[in-house]
Amino acid sequence: MEQINYEEIKTLENGSKLVGDLEFPKRKVWVKTYGCQMNYHDTERILSHLEPLNFSLTSRQEEADLLLFNTCAIRDLANQKFYSHLGNTKHQKKQKEVKVAAGGCIAQTESKELLKKYPQLDFAFGTDVVDNIGEMVYRAYAGDKKFAVTSWDRADNYSIQTKITHGSPQAFVNIIKGCDKFCSYCIVPFTRGREKSRSVAEIVNDVARLVQYQGIQEVTLLGQNVNSFGKKNGESLAQLIMELEKITGLEIIRYTTSHPYDISDELIEVHGKSKKLANHLHLPVQSGSNTVLQRMLRQYSIEHYLERLDALRKANPHIVLSTDIIAGFPNETQQEHEATLELLDKAQYDFIYSYNYSARKGTKASRMRDILTKEIRGRRLREIQAHQLKIQEKVRASMVGKTYRVLVEGKGTMKGEVKWKGRTNCFRIVHFRPETLDQDYLWHWVDLKITSATALSCQGEIIRDYGKRVTPIQ
Ligand code: SAH
Ligand code: SF4
Ligand code: F3S
Repeated sequence: MEQINYEEIKTLENGSKLVGDLEFPKRKVWVKTYGCQMNYHDTERILSHLEPLNFSLTSRQEEADLLLFNTCAIRDLANQKFYSHLGNTKHQKKQKEVKVAAGGCIAQTESKELLKKYPQLDFAFGTDVVDNIGEMVYRAYAGDKKFAVTSWDRADNYSIQTKITHGSPQAFVNIIKGCDKFCSYCIVPFTRGREKSRSVAEIVNDVARLVQYQGIQEVTLLGQNVNSFGKKNGESLAQLIMELEKITGLEIIRYTTSHPYDISDELIEVHGKSKKLANHLHLPVQSGSNTVLQRMLRQYSIEHYLERLDALRKANPHIVLSTDIIAGFPNETQQEHEATLELLDKAQYDFIYSYNYSARKGTKASRMRDILTKEIRGRRLREIQAHQLKIQEKVRASMVGKTYRVLVEGKGTMKGEVKWKGRTNCFRIVHFRPETLDQDYLWHWVDLKITSATALSCQGEIIRDYGKRVTPIQ
């Protein structure tokens, strides 16, 4: 089948769906997602296409009829986790009729090898064809075996509608896909292809619809490099944010991830004047050393980066900053490593994600001669993390006594006590004692006064409860 016409799917008396000439009884799908928000969002799109084919989601792998893996290739560890989990599905396949498929970033570049190496794998699909998952599942149930779909959409722009399958007021909204940067260590340009943006007009309509009809109050604009958004169409992220700002009922706008080279004066100005743009920015720096940044092909200097942080803090004095760091880039010297520790002192991040460098096949860095050992890399990573924790403790301590508006995101047990947790506009999680444990309390907006804060956790008490909306929509 070329394309499924979802409107023509009939429900039969026995509860099955008739798709073309094929009956789809009620089935269960289990999904394992690795990697970044892009992948989590793709999983949501996949599920939205499978629902009309009579699939419902299960969290129990053993009861599933269809097992889907949405894979990540960013570091070797991500690959290894997937290979071992996929390996285990062999037993399940022997016990019952189950179909197994792999999508995402590993499948984009390695689909043929995967299909060959893992007999239990029915099909593999790339990152640019998630919206065709219905057709692939149809093919698999029609008897097609061992196929791969990994084609690229060659157009300069793209058009989609956001799909959400959850009941939360937070939505991821894809605005740009792919990456043209080719940082020397990174696999993403190979697994996600060239940059393509949606249009401002389409995104504004999409978000207005989500707010009006699906109860969305917070959006995270997604892309590998959202600062390049709209470049090929003469549009910009700054322009998009100011347009989204006008949507009544939308409370918070976030975006991730940014590249420091492309963060424009216009965008920094928007951080100052927008009332809905979050007081948080994740701006990956990767290293504090200019010579390492050059070898990484990052296109900016530490001086430029720090100047951008200063300008952001001037534009919005409440802004909270975070970053990504790679420890042990090939041939990194002790001095270059120490420059990263110095950068942490200067930048005063609220949190960092840090990783050991991992060589990725096909990237420029993987062809560099490398004299660093695993031990040195590991030690440097631990040093970076310990150094940041000390800074983080001080940064977080400054929150105590202040009041923050928080969206209640869930419950958790802390030292034997059940507490609610919420996220501030500036992206910090705060735990607080409940007035109720009723699940209906989820997604309330509350004002919390911070009573204590350490590097890794933050406690508050309720000052005010707004219920499920701060601003009613007409
Ligand atoms: N688009 C984002 C990065 C996405 S990947 C950006 O440009 O910042 C998320 C993070 O993974 C990167 O910021 C980097 O810190 C890390 N990363 C990417 N490739 C890596 C590699 N080969 N080894 C270790 N960490 C890597
Ligand atoms: Fe990878 Fe660099 Fe693109 Fe980020 S900007 S996705 S690190 S190539
Ligand atoms: Fe991983 Fe692909 Fe995201 S490699 S980090 S899932 S873009």
